Amino acid sequence: MTKKRVAVLISGRGSNMTALIEAAEAKDYPAEIVLIVSNRPDAAGLARARQAGIATAVIDHRPFGENREAFERALDDELHKYRVGIVCLAGFMRLLTAWFIGRWRGRILNIHPALLPEFKGLDTHRRALETGAKQHGATVHFVVEETDAGPIISRQSVPVHQGDTEETLAARVLEIEHRIYPEALRLVAEGRAKFTAPKLK
Ligand code: GRF
Repeated sequence: MTKKRVAVLISGRGSNMTALIEAAEAKDYPAEIVLIVSNRPDAAGLARARQAGIATAVIDHRPFGENREAFERALDDELHKYRVGIVCLAGFMRLLTAWFIGRWRGRILNIHPALLPEFKGLDTHRRALETGAKQHGATVHFVVEETDAGPIISRQSVPVHQGDTEETLAARVLEIEHRIYPEALRLVAEGRAKFTAPKLK
């Protein structure tokens, strides 16, 4: 089996990154994590990646200012240097341009802490509580130009309990994030989940 070479892009804590690293340690897992990239030099996940002996790169977005594409060219160069085949966004807090997404179409995944298409964007747990949702959850999807809108690879729900706070709900969702992201990456790496372009509206 030739394992697919995967880069994980992070901006912070990196718990999903860790779940992917741990899953990929299994002999029969169809992907290996070859690179962790952070756009923030202080991302806590970087230390965890180094501990696991995985190459890390910091591409700080700040010196690029408004020039998103220049930042992405640097990122793209790094990914090519490591011969990356699949990119996993895991708490990566930068919006990507159509240029970058086009280059990686069908090979770039994201995890979102809600049952898409519900609650796209930020503060999903707060909004789920505010609207009285009975179910909440997480989704792994292919990335397309529109934020949090690509074809869904894997999705799982959790109940919202009475008395839940953002923190308790987030913790329940995070637990399933850590389960479904490795599963979704497996499906993509094995070619069992394939990207099909969403229909034009
Ligand atoms: C996760 O909840 C993920 O769904 C969202 O950002 C958070 C990142 O957490 N996109 P971590 O850095 O993986 O711990």
